[in-house]
Amino acid sequence: MYNIAVAGTGYVGLVAGVCFAEMGHQVTCVDIDEDKVELMRSGGSPIFETGLEELMQKNYKADRIEYTTDYENAYRSADAVFIGVGTPEQPDGSANLSYIATVARQIAESVESDTLVVVKSTVPVGTNDKVEQFIHDFLVNDVQVEVASNPEFLAQGSAVKDTLEAERIIIGTESTWAEQMLQEIYEPFKLPVVSVNRRSAEMIKYASNDFLALKISYMNDIANLCERVGADIQDVAEGMSYDERIGSKFLNAGIGFGGSCFPKDTKALDYIAQQNNYELKTVRAAIDINKSQKTKLFDKAGDRLITFDGLKVAVLGLTFKPGTDDLREAPSLENVPQLLEKGADVFAYDPVGTDNFSHIHPEGKRGKGSITYALNAEEALEDANVCFIFTEWGEIKAVEPDDYKKLMRTPLVYDGRNIHEVDAMKQAGVEYYSVGRPSVEREAIKERAVHGIQQ
Ligand code: UDX
Repeated sequence: MYNIAVAGTGYVGLVAGVCFAEMGHQVTCVDIDEDKVELMRSGGSPIFETGLEELMQKNYKADRIEYTTDYENAYRSADAVFIGVGTPEQPDGSANLSYIATVARQIAESVESDTLVVVKSTVPVGTNDKVEQFIHDFLVNDVQVEVASNPEFLAQGSAVKDTLEAERIIIGTESTWAEQMLQEIYEPFKLPVVSVNRRSAEMIKYASNDFLALKISYMNDIANLCERVGADIQDVAEGMSYDERIGSKFLNAGIGFGGSCFPKDTKALDYIAQQNNYELKTVRAAIDINKSQKTKLFDKAGDRLITFDGLKVAVLGLTFKPGTDDLREAPSLENVPQLLEKGADVFAYDPVGTDNFSHIHPEGKRGKGSITYALNAEEALEDANVCFIFTEWGEIKAVEPDDYKKLMRTPLVYDGRNIHEVDAMKQAGVEYYSVGRPSVEREAIKERAVHGIQQ
């Protein structure tokens, strides 16, 4: 078993650290934030992730994991230091590597024996060569330090499961010493390991994420065409999914992808291509489609309503996907400010994302409009003129078609996640627009009212 230090206790670092401890390694998680370290020592997780706190507490009790701000001590005695700090996107699409550089320098100034530095953060191809050079430049002691790439594929909400039961571990190394140590560190996981060189490992991460982003944007593109030709994207996706070469996952059309990875990694690869005088047309198309997809329903509703001024607008779902409190690149962040600017009184509901959202948009009057946080979907829908669905939480899926009809002033719903059956909404008398499926137009509702419920 190895002595492992992990730099950064976000989604990547903390989950990796806890899972290494669970596999029997001795782990020290390092973070610069004292409060965060205190919280973790008392068994609390700074991120909302199923099963994480239980594993943190179990391994802390078993003395296999500790948390500290004292990086010198942690790096000095480690066999391997895993870096899991953020690489946020910069305005031009490139990755900000300053956190990695800070950690790399701290490692260089702390290590007293041969150390493997493993970069888990997503970094542009070729970065790890530079990180290694950077560490060598700042090394204080006469020791060997090699940098390896070990990209992370976890999805938020299932991070622990995705790590313990990963479909593959990618290790990118430049020596058998580094390869062997990583093979041994991952041996207890009993998972398939793909061993490649450092640059290929870095590329695998981007190529995988961007392929999934591309798959979603492709389905959104086809969905938009489905609306024009009278096809139903859900039936189309089902039909496609039986072809094993296509697969059944990531075929859901909707209001576009968000989160901490796909938006950032598509832009980063596009930037890398540009830097290398190459135009990556596929990825660029995925980015462009996603941009217009995010406000598609808002634009559609704008046409239908003429104005949002003074309207009560129910917003169901704020996070970029269910199972997380993360708002990064969430469609709600694009749409809610536009609604407020147009004078809407927004009543928003999300089972866990409200706190984070209210830090960005505090409750109360906002410009011409206002925002109120509802305790449940029903409260948000009460007397609303229009409803937008942005996240497919179970609590939101549980709203029945009849509830929209009963609760709303005008039963008019824009569903960005295709969570309701079109026929059921029609039956309930709800005017309904979703993505890539037939809509229930106002005329159909009126017709139903004229013919009565008997039909
Ligand atoms: C993703 C990758 O899945 C993971 O492997 C990588 O390491 C990090 O990025 P994450 O961002 O947590 O994980 O969420 P994911 O479940 O992949 O969803 C990303 C976005 O795509 C969400 O906004 C989701 O709503 C959207 N999506 C996903 C679709 O619109 N349609 C789909 O079919 C699937």
